[in-house]
Amino acid sequence: MLIFNTQNELVSYLATVSNATTTIGFVPTMGALHQGHLSLLSDALKNNSIVVMSIFVNPTQFNNQEDLAKYPRTLETDIEKIKSVSDKIIVYAPSVEDIYNGNTVSQHFDFDGLENQMEGQFRPGHFNGVGTIVKRLFEIVKPTHAYFGEKDFQQLQIVKKMVEKAKIPVKVIGCPIFREPNGLAMSSRNERLSDTEKKEAAIIYKTLLQAKKLFPTKSAAAVSHWVKKTFDQNSNFTLEYFQIADEASLLPCIRKSKNKKYRAFIAVFVNNIRLIDTISLK
Ligand code: PAF
Repeated sequence: MLIFNTQNELVSYLATVSNATTTIGFVPTMGALHQGHLSLLSDALKNNSIVVMSIFVNPTQFNNQEDLAKYPRTLETDIEKIKSVSDKIIVYAPSVEDIYNGNTVSQHFDFDGLENQMEGQFRPGHFNGVGTIVKRLFEIVKPTHAYFGEKDFQQLQIVKKMVEKAKIPVKVIGCPIFREPNGLAMSSRNERLSDTEKKEAAIIYKTLLQAKKLFPTKSAAAVSHWVKKTFDQNSNFTLEYFQIADEASLLPCIRKSKNKKYRAFIAVFVNNIRLIDTISLK
């Protein structure tokens, strides 16, 4: 398996193995890989001649320095997991210097307001950081197809918007959420949970499922009220937000419209660890 730590080496290598018909599938990650990431790799392998996975904990998308410091970094085990999928995958694991060249700051983006909802309200600057790194990685890897998990649905919509606005020639593909047997959405941050917290975190998906059940007969406000009450009664979990929003604009659902696809979004803290999840309400 090939592992590159610098963009120069990666770009030179890709030039030697690419021609006009080559398709490059790209899976950007911050490491601490789980089954969800590996399924993105499998999708990429099925549909592309070359597959590149990046592993880079991007400092500019963290609005909380403690979260950045504690973000799990597990490169060796990540490499083993990638090998278990295929030894043909090319890994790009750069340093901060290789990506930012001494200027570790975000570019400013206009994502037509998608950036102002939910995560945007609670993580100021986060999506400028995501846009900066994803654009940079697209420039380096030049993928034809890029794969993102739907757990970060807002991120997925924002990346699609960036690609559309900047006319980047890549197809952005959203892939389904992978869950633990108890329903907890797989996330690199789950590594920081104790066994008990992991078990109890089943409440997040259970609540989303119940919200989905309630939505056809209740207003978005009534469902949100029920979710808030559920978390108020649980002292170990603090609800940061629950929002039912239109999938395309991410604007909150005030009055239901038949022409819109709605989705519920949630962010919860357990022991200072922030977990997000989402469910389609179709
Ligand atoms: O979803 C993630 O892991 C990150 O936000 C991404 C897309 C790899 C950018 O750093």
